[in-house]
Amino acid sequence: MKKAVFPGSFDPITNGHIDVINRARKLFDHIIVGVAKRKEKNPIFTLSERERLVKAVVADIKGVEVKSFSGLLVDFVKQEKACTIIRGLRTISDFDYEFQMALTNRRIAPDIETIFFLASMRYAYLSASLVKEIASMGGKLEDFLPEPVIRAVEKKLKVKTHR
Ligand code: PNS
Repeated sequence: MKKAVFPGSFDPITNGHIDVINRARKLFDHIIVGVAKRKEKNPIFTLSERERLVKAVVADIKGVEVKSFSGLLVDFVKQEKACTIIRGLRTISDFDYEFQMALTNRRIAPDIETIFFLASMRYAYLSASLVKEIASMGGKLEDFLPEPVIRAVEKKLKVKTHR
């Protein structure tokens, strides 16, 4: 069985992440979405809230499991008995950071490969931080976030977005 880990902060999960999961699912039998603790990024959602939201929106996608993790990503990948990390690439500006992370992970765990999926053009510009900014100003979120996530963002930021 081909198993891969799709790690991220998912603060919150966006339509762009779901697009990557659906693409990766065509190549892998089982995908573990790894929700990282990431205290240093000051997420707006707690780890368990982020995990719960990811679970809610991937519930209908077969072969996808959601788990949270703290510590090194490569240790989590080994613990899950996977050997591939999946990341989405949107624009060229993602490349530096992703390249650095993939090579560092390879250095500390040479048996683990990183595979990149190109996000759909529809989501090439989409980022969780931009979405949070739009939300905080009451902007429309339907093109960016699944419905349960929109409701959670509105509740968290105490805003009502345009529908
Ligand atoms: O969604 P993000 O914030 O771009 O995801 C980044 C993430 C969580 C994949 C990365 O920060 C990570 O792997 N964190 C776990 C700690 C770790 O292994 N750090 C070394 C990476 S080279």
